[in-house]
Amino acid sequence: MYPITTQIIVMLFVVHFALSRQVEFKKAESDPGFTAKERSNSKEVGHYVPKLGVRLQKTPASFLSVVPFDSVTLECEAEGNPSPTIYWLKNGRRIHQGTWEESGLSQEININEMVTRGVSRTRSRLYLDCVSAKDEGIFSCIAENPYQRVSGKTNLKLSEERETRNAICVAKKSFGTPARIHMWTRTRIETQGNDIQLFCRASGNPQPKINWIRGDDENKIIKNSEKYKILENGDLVIRNLSWGDLGGYTCVAKNVNGAAKTFTFVYPAMPEEK
Ligand SMILES: *[C@@H]1O[C@H](CO)[C@@H](O)[C@H](O)[C@H]1NC(C)=O
Repeated sequence: MYPITTQIIVMLFVVHFALSRQVEFKKAESDPGFTAKERSNSKEVGHYVPKLGVRLQKTPASFLSVVPFDSVTLECEAEGNPSPTIYWLKNGRRIHQGTWEESGLSQEININEMVTRGVSRTRSRLYLDCVSAKDEGIFSCIAENPYQRVSGKTNLKLSEERETRNAICVAKKSFGTPARIHMWTRTRIETQGNDIQLFCRASGNPQPKINWIRGDDENKIIKNSEKYKILENGDLVIRNLSWGDLGGYTCVAKNVNGAAKTFTFVYPAMPEEK
């Protein structure tokens, strides 16, 4: 009796395992995100499953101790479909970096992200200069798209160290702040034929000017055309993505106090076969 019972239990276990695998497989197949295929040299090298939603890829440490009057940069990265945006909270209240966020205009143009099949990675930085007692608190990085919102928390405290950098900090501030990019697209995979919007949101005093460059050749400045549109908030729209758009795009933000650069990689995936 005993060996048979064991066999039945083992069999039930195996069947249960097989069934659950099959259910998982069916679910993936019916997922609307399960379409884009990556190919190279017309040989299938596998396909990715861009799930609708957002996942955090990188968050600051959960606890940060900062020397008084030091500067610190918090960094967060999220992957998602459609493209996630990232912003920051301090003790639950939204921090506005740059005039575009302050004005509340996110400048979405006529791109229907809901029908796109791509996946993208967005990175964001929060720059804290001259950290003092008023900067202590809980900072949250919020990444979201229309399907999901995820967050990571950091507790920032001043260290006990005594420093005398206060005077330098104050002097620096009165001369304005250099251009800094606080949110940008790191990578973007999208099906050929679709339009994409690459983020490049900058802040600084005075408000920085944005240029987009193909690759990293400073002579290849992208101009508005049928193919490209540079939005007032700094984002770059590329229309009707084709294989020729594969590669890098550099965003340069500049003001009289300094410049910043970020790099975005675009991968135009093969269209789905009908
Ligand atoms: C998009 O680009 C392809 C060539 O890459 C072209 O055949 C097609 O007509 C373009 N579509 C639109 C809407 O411009």
